[in-house]
Amino acid sequence: MIKIDDDLISLETENTGYYLGKRGNLWETLHYGAKIHPDRLALTEKIDSGYGTDVVYREDMGKDALLHLSLDLSPTHKGDYRQTALDVTLANGSSVCDWTFVSAQINEGTWQSEELPFAHEAEQHLVMTYTGTGGLQVDLVYSVFPEADVITRRMILTNAGQVSVILNRALSYQLDLPNYGYQLSTFTGAWAPERHESVRDLTNGRHAFGSSTGTSSHYCNPFFMIYQEDATEETGAVYGFNLIYSGNHFGQVEVGPYQKMRVMAGIQDDGFSWTLEPGQSFESPEAMLTFSKAGKNGMSQNCHNFVKHHIVSKNWASKERPILLNNWEATYFDFNQRKLLKLAKEAKEVGIELFVLDDGWFGQRNSDTDGLGDYDVNLKKLPSGLAGLAKQINKIGLDFGIWIEPEMVSVKSKLYQEHPDWAVSAPGIEPSLGRHQLVLDLCRPEVQDYIIEQINQLLSSANISYVKWDMNRHLSDIFSPSLSNQGQFYHSWVKGLYRILREIMAKHPDILFEGCSNGGNRFDLGMLCYFPQIWTSDNTDVYERMKIQTGTSYGYPQSTMSCHVSDVPNHQTLRNSPIESRFDVASFGILGYELDVTKLPSADKKILQAQIAYYKEHRKLLQFGSFYRLLSPFKMAEQTRWLVVAEDKGQAVLMDAIGRSQPNQESLPVRLPYLEVDYLYDICNRQEQLDIRQFGSLMNAALPVKVNHQGLAVHVVADHYRMTLEKENYQAYGDLLAHAGIKLNQAFTATGFSDKTRLMPDYGARLYDIIKK
Ligand code: GLA
Repeated sequence: MIKIDDDLISLETENTGYYLGKRGNLWETLHYGAKIHPDRLALTEKIDSGYGTDVVYREDMGKDALLHLSLDLSPTHKGDYRQTALDVTLANGSSVCDWTFVSAQINEGTWQSEELPFAHEAEQHLVMTYTGTGGLQVDLVYSVFPEADVITRRMILTNAGQVSVILNRALSYQLDLPNYGYQLSTFTGAWAPERHESVRDLTNGRHAFGSSTGTSSHYCNPFFMIYQEDATEETGAVYGFNLIYSGNHFGQVEVGPYQKMRVMAGIQDDGFSWTLEPGQSFESPEAMLTFSKAGKNGMSQNCHNFVKHHIVSKNWASKERPILLNNWEATYFDFNQRKLLKLAKEAKEVGIELFVLDDGWFGQRNSDTDGLGDYDVNLKKLPSGLAGLAKQINKIGLDFGIWIEPEMVSVKSKLYQEHPDWAVSAPGIEPSLGRHQLVLDLCRPEVQDYIIEQINQLLSSANISYVKWDMNRHLSDIFSPSLSNQGQFYHSWVKGLYRILREIMAKHPDILFEGCSNGGNRFDLGMLCYFPQIWTSDNTDVYERMKIQTGTSYGYPQSTMSCHVSDVPNHQTLRNSPIESRFDVASFGILGYELDVTKLPSADKKILQAQIAYYKEHRKLLQFGSFYRLLSPFKMAEQTRWLVVAEDKGQAVLMDAIGRSQPNQESLPVRLPYLEVDYLYDICNRQEQLDIRQFGSLMNAALPVKVNHQGLAVHVVADHYRMTLEKENYQAYGDLLAHAGIKLNQAFTATGFSDKTRLMPDYGARLYDIIKK
């Protein structure tokens, strides 16, 4: 709900409020955080006698110096010595810019962008219009999403003057908050360890972060949070911020003098410059701001609700997603139709629903050196073409999906031979390769048209129900002949990509698209507007996934995270882990398998069948339930606990996992704070199984006969028989679960063993069903 009362504007969600007060020709940010009864006098900054060394802004505003004010829009080079969200160079070379408020208007519904993705179904939006030096106009747009406790912001700049101006920095927002001594968490990493939480104290100065690879990048996700130092998952004040954008981004928290900090984010200004001709407008990406008093989980709930209800297209928001088998780690490039059909048959037998053909089906692509840009099927590998293969896969009883990487071109491709100039390169410099490939110039409409046409044709050529849209390199050598200011390259490239996606999605609304970029290199709200789910990471190692999925969950719900069970030793870490743990962790996302199911011993096939049956039974809850972090793998003896809870709190599933097994350790009681305190619950673990080879020579201590634990007999038995693990069953009220917690059975610690012992080897995990009696 947005309200304007003369010199006070209130933007309120169910639990948060953003309040602005008129101050001369500007508006002061009075408060953003928990919802309050605002009082203009109580909240306004008091400056009566001024402070030493101040530069006083304007005579008609008394002793006001901008440095003391909380401002959503700052005049530049007028005494606000913090960095400002907007920086322009006017035609006369000056960067001094002043602003005067003109109007504030409340509109119903969403502010719709024609070129950038945006959040749908806002309740209302507010447009605050200012005019400025050089005929510039700024519209600050605020949208409210009450039930998600989210307010979004963006900035639109229009050149209403007679001559062009240059935008050097045009972020989506700046927000000034009192500095109570907060901490900042960003989510950083690289290929394979994506979105690990990085914590820093917000000491005086500028704390900047972002990406400049051309995409949102695995180096630093656009999501970040700031919070009271003592905030926990359950308690404390936490702010969350994100951008609905997939290109280079920049975020900063500047702790300045006078107990204030300025938070800002938007398009990365490094390498950015935008020429705004008379009559033109520039629109910054929409930014998400949220606040919760209920700790980091409270803040994450807001982000999750926002993504589920306002980012992911309505078509897919609550549609249960299929369990897939992807052939990549089973075959890499080395496959043919016979092998694929064999995989599909086995997949069907264990209960999988969708078969995904990954890289290598087109052109001469037998390695990652060739073929990107071409879309002709490799008939040597797939003699009946895609349509024929899809038909046969459908006949087996599975849906058919396919991998594509449309934004790229290989030098060894027909497309490159015909249009070498479509690959991004700067004049006179040999372009650098990434994964042997070049980037297509998406700034150019003819290149966008080519991709749209090829992909539309491809998707209509066979019965394809799923697409994995990949993008496997960072941008470099940026230059487009279509631009007169090359500072516009990165953002124009992303806008080109968005046009491609808009047009393709509009034609194929029923195809499920999964985003991917070297794993999780482009996991952002912009992509999620088109792709309801994203390949979280190429790294499917169970221990790594505990950290990657935990980190990702701060800003994104589990329904956006694609998670696969893969083979061991794991292809990214060479680590061994129990197959049941791999499932337990992957089941807290969109489940898939990525291994050669034709080579699995019969015992593992039975395990897969049971896992998939369990997932199907709990799919709605696991994919769309409210997700909470209870213990983090980054702390507490590397123990991870996640909980999903149904909307009516009648059902929940807990995932409990350890990192490296530690002898002689008691685990913390299982405390579940997000259930209904008055309900009586039945708590029971999923029946899991363990490979007896895990015991090594210790099996002789338990068996009546002596065996060679490395001998053939043990392998034969182990391939057909798995040991059934302990069963635990409790009945407890929600208040016990919330405040005391259940003490689980003792874990194995080499002092003995019974059918009650929790066998938790390295990376051991369990799932617990929690059902209201
Ligand atoms: C990327 C993806 C992988 C796989 C390969 C295929 O690395 O992240 O999942 O699709 O490309 O080349």
